[in-house]
Amino acid sequence: MEVEDALRMMRDPLGAPFYPRVFQVLLLLTWVVHIYFVTVAVGSSVTTIYGFRRGDERWLRLARSCARLTPSGVGLGIVTGIAPLLFVQVIYDPIWYASNALTGFWSVIFIIVVASGYTCAYVFYLKGSADGRLLWSSVLGLALLVLAGWIMHVLASVSIRPEHWREWYAPNGVADTRGIEFHSFNVARVAFLLPLQAAIGTAVTGLIYTWYRLKRDDADREYLTWVAGLSRRLGIIASVLYGGVGIAWAVTEGADYDLTAPMAIALGGVGLAMAAFFAAHRDPVGIGRRALGAWFASLAVVAVIREVIRATALSRFNYDVGSYPYRVDWGSVAMFTVTTIVGVSIITYMVMVLFQSGIGAGERIPRSIDRLGRVSTAMLGAWFAFFLLVGVYAVVAL
Ligand code: HEM
Repeated sequence: MEVEDALRMMRDPLGAPFYPRVFQVLLLLTWVVHIYFVTVAVGSSVTTIYGFRRGDERWLRLARSCARLTPSGVGLGIVTGIAPLLFVQVIYDPIWYASNALTGFWSVIFIIVVASGYTCAYVFYLKGSADGRLLWSSVLGLALLVLAGWIMHVLASVSIRPEHWREWYAPNGVADTRGIEFHSFNVARVAFLLPLQAAIGTAVTGLIYTWYRLKRDDADREYLTWVAGLSRRLGIIASVLYGGVGIAWAVTEGADYDLTAPMAIALGGVGLAMAAFFAAHRDPVGIGRRALGAWFASLAVVAVIREVIRATALSRFNYDVGSYPYRVDWGSVAMFTVTTIVGVSIITYMVMVLFQSGIGAGERIPRSIDRLGRVSTAMLGAWFAFFLLVGVYAVVAL
């Protein structure tokens, strides 16, 4: 059987429940949020360890804040990782499941790796961040997060190389079902996506932190100015490296798919643009929101590049998301849409309350936010009740 036939036959026989291009766009958008949080978790973890090793007062203060940020970043990274996981399974099921099977050992222990990484980061925050004890827990947590990122990278890499699956599954004709080998990886790609994005994401988050904290009446201006300056310097250095390593990714993996020039222009350009952004703001205090906007725009470009690589790799076998069979299932679409509306409104409410409380305005929550809270909580209650009724109906009547 040809690879092309295998890919076609491994698709879900029921087809996708909605237009496949919509899933593709959602995949890219949700991946941007996912990668932002996981890289911030990695970056804040490095800052924690470095800060405790430096040991002076300002660094210790920053390290303690970062120790608190790491478990939150991992938690948000996991939650936002589920979304691209679902979308990838809908439109790229043949390649995603094949790469998970070929890398079976690592995909099975992936959840254990992530959960242990989270636990280590949390233990350090809870028990060690006051006086720097248990720093090993933070170090171990960082190692596990990096391993999780590496596994993700190998899964992505193996998935776009179906031409090698047979030889990887049965080298010399003998099946190897352990799934323990890292069959495919690209060092430049992973360096670009993980440590360098972690450095820039952390710099951006440092700027958001200073912008936000300065709103407090009791803000420590001197300390916050130091954090902003540090973030800016880190941002400039990491962005220059980012552009350079992006070009290395283009000339290695990009060359396999004749994408060297467009990738080098896009990735080198993104690095240059971010470096120029940081460099242009000599006074970085207060630029947090713009930095976050610029960073998300850059991540969106990277998400598109990843997708172009995948689409080009699979087009060699006539696999195209646009021609994935689908049958619109309005029940699922309605469930998805209402859950998204309810989820987004309740999250918006919680973020707004947290935002107000963090700047010391907890007593003065504006009336509009209060109203949003009541409406979204009521919607959530109604949605739970609906789900319960559907469950009862399914058990009793079907
Ligand atoms: C907490 C540690 C994690 C780290 C450091 C991490 C990092 C990464 C990286 C670097 C990539 C890009 C790989 C590449 O293109 O070469 C990626 C992709 C991805 N991650 Fe994560 N990840 C983590 C956890 C998770 C979790 C818990 C999930 C799911 C619940 C998840 C879901 C995904 C998916 C589905 C993709 C691929 C999306 C696609 O192929 O378009 N990740 N992750």
